[in-house]
Amino acid sequence: MSKLIIDGGRRLEGEIDVQGAKNAVLPILAAAILSDGKNIIYNCPNLSDVETTIAVLKNLGCKVKWEKNSVEVDSSTISGYTIPDELMRKMRSSIIFLGAIISKCKKAEVSMPGGCEIGNRPIDLHLKALRQLGVEITESHGFIHCDGSNMSAAKIHLDFPSVGATENTMLASCLLDGTTVIENAAREPEIVDLERFLNRMGAKITGAGSDTIVIQGVHKLYGVEHTIIPDRIVAATYLACGAITGGTVVLKKVNSNHIGAMLNILKDMGAGIYAEKDKVVLTPAKNLKSAGTIKTMPYPGFPTDIQSPFMALATACDGASVFVENIFENRFQHIEELIRMGANIKTDGRVAVVMGKTPLTGAKVVAKELRGGASLVVAALSADGETQIENVKFIDRGYDHIEKVLSTLGADIKRRD
Ligand code: EPZ
Repeated sequence: MSKLIIDGGRRLEGEIDVQGAKNAVLPILAAAILSDGKNIIYNCPNLSDVETTIAVLKNLGCKVKWEKNSVEVDSSTISGYTIPDELMRKMRSSIIFLGAIISKCKKAEVSMPGGCEIGNRPIDLHLKALRQLGVEITESHGFIHCDGSNMSAAKIHLDFPSVGATENTMLASCLLDGTTVIENAAREPEIVDLERFLNRMGAKITGAGSDTIVIQGVHKLYGVEHTIIPDRIVAATYLACGAITGGTVVLKKVNSNHIGAMLNILKDMGAGIYAEKDKVVLTPAKNLKSAGTIKTMPYPGFPTDIQSPFMALATACDGASVFVENIFENRFQHIEELIRMGANIKTDGRVAVVMGKTPLTGAKVVAKELRGGASLVVAALSADGETQIENVKFIDRGYDHIEKVLSTLGADIKRRD
């Protein structure tokens, strides 16, 4: 099991390029099966979740070449329509293939995704939308059996603006005759990137980024080239690393329009922020102070994925910081580990109150899930002494060589296998 060894207390200084967005590349790789030709995806981050997604593509019969940050997908050889249990358990967000497989093969057999570390992750909204498109769905023996032979366009209202359900509905309807409308759609930038990719392939989709997406079905989609947007969660994580160490960090290849909610919180905490479209400069706060109450919300609200890294940052802020986690029911597992490092945090249900400023000390801690693991990295960078973070595999799901990036900024961080 790999671990990260961090000797804290060093001010981060320097400039980094932000990696491509994990949550954009996963649905776009799934969408690639809809064309009959080759797709080339650029700015693809080197992540274990991308590795798993490529394994799903190969399991379906696609030919895939992954060289550095480019992935070439040839779906002309697709032969399967199933996602086996071991792949679904490895990455539950493989459920995003469901809509694409049904679109391509008119049937699908996928293992139930089940829950994960941050919650039970239901897919009822996905299945309800697919049924409204005419997909016949039965669930048995831990598998979801889908028959898409009698599908038709429909007007769909999502009970909650689910990112995955929005994406699955887009993928399931883009090759259907007629016009499908998704109301109360999720508005995340990753959905806009998916729309951009699909339209480049020949789809006719409008409205991504708003709460209403209109998909006019077409008969064929073509292989294209596409560059993935920057990862807004990774960008904000590295800004938190800079802020907690009192450093000056320059982010390049970032989309500052996608991180407005996080930049506002950093400014409220007293950090200096200068932003251009694809560049953000963070300069130290004279004295970090609480940003008050931070509530996670669907985009463009404060993202749930950055809650835990910013909670680590809040330990260095004067005053009480209140975090309300409105999206996932089990996204506070990093708190007991932060407390081991000296944090003063009390929780009640989905509310956590962080008393600051509390000096942190290095300790042996365990990453329990992806963003909670990133939170421990943020804390360790400011802690006095050495921190050992176990289960780095969770962090590697979403952060491309985190130790190399932070070393570029002057952190004393090593990976030990
Ligand atoms: C996507 O997950 C992201 N993952 C998550 O990022 C992110 O936290 C989440 O969106 C919210 O922004 C990918 O894009 C691969 P949802 P997704 O459907 O699509 C409930 C990370 O760290 N819900 O918007 O699964 C659900 O339980 C990951 O990068 C239902 O009730 O999120 C949750 O409470 C973690 N029924 C809420 O909606 C459903 O059918 C939001 O889920 C679907 C969702």
